[in-house]
Amino acid sequence: MTIQTLTESQQQALLSAARAAQRQAYAPYSRYPVGAAVLDDLGRIHAGCNVENAAYPEGVCAEASALSAMVLAGSTRARAVLVVGNGGKNHSAWTTPCGGCRQKLREFGAPDLPILCANDETTGPSYTLVQLLPEGFGPDHLGAQA
Ligand code: THU
Repeated sequence: MTIQTLTESQQQALLSAARAAQRQAYAPYSRYPVGAAVLDDLGRIHAGCNVENAAYPEGVCAEASALSAMVLAGSTRARAVLVVGNGGKNHSAWTTPCGGCRQKLREFGAPDLPILCANDETTGPSYTLVQLLPEGFGPDHLGAQA
């Protein structure tokens, strides 16, 4: 699904789900709350937030959390993702998925998977997965049908 084929109501639903998730973030260390929402192949939306940990590397990103919710709900195909963070404010860079999450999205998304950026005030730029993770390694390399 390209960004153009996402309907306005799907975008709005992703935005409100990701913003609601951002408000639930547990980010006492970075103070950088993030929310993510994934649209699956059945049209359902799954949200996640970052959950940090006193043992820092054990923290989980919002995107990873949303993908876990999608898999738990029975889908392994992501059609669109929207990430809400505090990027895009005061001339800061927009919040885009970290490298590890780009790889996690590669598992469940096509190269043209739309990845939309937003904050709690406005929407930002959109990318495709292949733009953010060119030449990525995926299930196809292993002959797997994900
Ligand atoms: N974080 C996310 O959850 N998703 C992103 O797209 C960027 C970063 C989290 C990880 C950590 O809890 C905090 O933001 C600061 O890095």
